[in-house]
Amino acid sequence: MSVTMVVGAQWGDEAKGKIVDLLSQEAEITARFNGGDNAGHTVVNDYGTFKLRLTPNGFANPHTICVIGPGVVVNLVTLIGEIKTIKEAGIDLSERLWISPRCHVVMPYHPMVEAIYELAKGDAQTGTTKRGMGPVYADKVSYNGMRLVDMQDEGIFREKLGIQLKVKNALFQAFGMETLDLDEVLEKKLFEYSQVRAMVRESFGLIQNALKANTSIVLEGAQGALLDNTWGTYPFCTASTTISGGVMAGLGIAPMWIKRVIGVAKAYTTRVGRGPMPTELEDATGEVLQKEGQEYGTVTGRPRRCGWFDAELVKFTSQLSGYSEIALTKLDVLDTLPKIKICVGYHHAGKDSPLAHYWEGDAHWLEGCEPEYIEMDGWMQSTKAARKFDELPRQAQGFVKKVEELVGTPVSIISVGPERSATILL
Ligand code: GDP
Ligand code: IMO
Ligand code: MG
Repeated sequence: MSVTMVVGAQWGDEAKGKIVDLLSQEAEITARFNGGDNAGHTVVNDYGTFKLRLTPNGFANPHTICVIGPGVVVNLVTLIGEIKTIKEAGIDLSERLWISPRCHVVMPYHPMVEAIYELAKGDAQTGTTKRGMGPVYADKVSYNGMRLVDMQDEGIFREKLGIQLKVKNALFQAFGMETLDLDEVLEKKLFEYSQVRAMVRESFGLIQNALKANTSIVLEGAQGALLDNTWGTYPFCTASTTISGGVMAGLGIAPMWIKRVIGVAKAYTTRVGRGPMPTELEDATGEVLQKEGQEYGTVTGRPRRCGWFDAELVKFTSQLSGYSEIALTKLDVLDTLPKIKICVGYHHAGKDSPLAHYWEGDAHWLEGCEPEYIEMDGWMQSTKAARKFDELPRQAQGFVKKVEELVGTPVSIISVGPERSATILL
């Protein structure tokens, strides 16, 4: 099958970067289709450790074309920095990186608008990555966005920017903030644009030809299904479509091409930012998960909230995105736990009420849910060196089987460490 899609099955940071790097060794194209530099995808490969936010993770393969599709919003400063970091590691992307001219650009005013809203919300704030994602996507859908293509012509860019600054500066004035100067912003952005201009090229034909020729394409989703703008825990979510369907609009690939969808799920649950998380642990076990899993945000450095694997959530996201398989990551993080729990549904009206599903309510409803757990024996030994399923302790094998059974989707990849090699293929 030529198209493999890799998407987050939880609240992001499931180790999509590692899985895409692994699968990209034979890919001719890797492509991002959603999100922006709110993503932080870590890979550990022959060139070192990279925490990439915009560049697709096929970058390490000298034959792989990397496409930043039109559904992605681009922060030029981040992108230029990434291209430089990758170059310093000995990899030149100039011939291999294609950035869609349709991509919307994060402008200096987007994080400022976001800050106004977050401040106004106080305790109810989303807890964003502060990259301006909400406002840049809001401008996109309300026909106020600035695209890379708009920067190709200084006159067009000046006119559009002027209109935006008229509105945005009035807002900043009302909130006692400094306003932005048209010429300064224009000059800065055009200079940044000039550094990537050669790589801004329409990828539609390239992708369509690759689909027809049945060449291998790996699609790298950002964030996770539970941060999806429609199906996630709104308003504690992100601004783009993070489920498999996002690739149709975000890259221009029709549904008939998508046969293999890998949902990446951690063997437990994490979340950064605010919002409900039914299996969150605020005890010593939560601390073990955070410490063993090194659970700190890649973009913001914030500690990630940790809890038990929630099969109810992953079953829902599997149905939503149509996972053909699951990549179960960070199994090794559970190595020291004597007992391991898995959530199998929620009680919303007391312990005796029938089990309820995630999709029955909104974020506020989920906040009031009590998880129902099953408990399994831990394995209390290291799984880090396992490279075959039967090299895993019996209890760990049982855990994987239980995940498959509860989610209703086969596990095809198990990850037991950050390195590319620390992987079991089933
Ligand atoms: P992404 O956003 O989904 O790509 O995930 P992140 O890169 O934000 O977070 C995953 C973190 O876990 C990274 O620091 C990875 O290096 C690390 N990691 C990936 N797979 C494993 C694994 O199987 N075990 C352990 N212990 N760490 C892993
Ligand atoms: P990757 O691709 C984890 C979260 C933020 C916040 C909410 C909204 O690395 O898995 P935003 O800045 O997008 O407006 O923030 O979404 N969030 C992520 N959490 N991993 C991510 O990306 C995330 N991208 C956004 O923490 O709760
Ligand atoms: Mg991440």
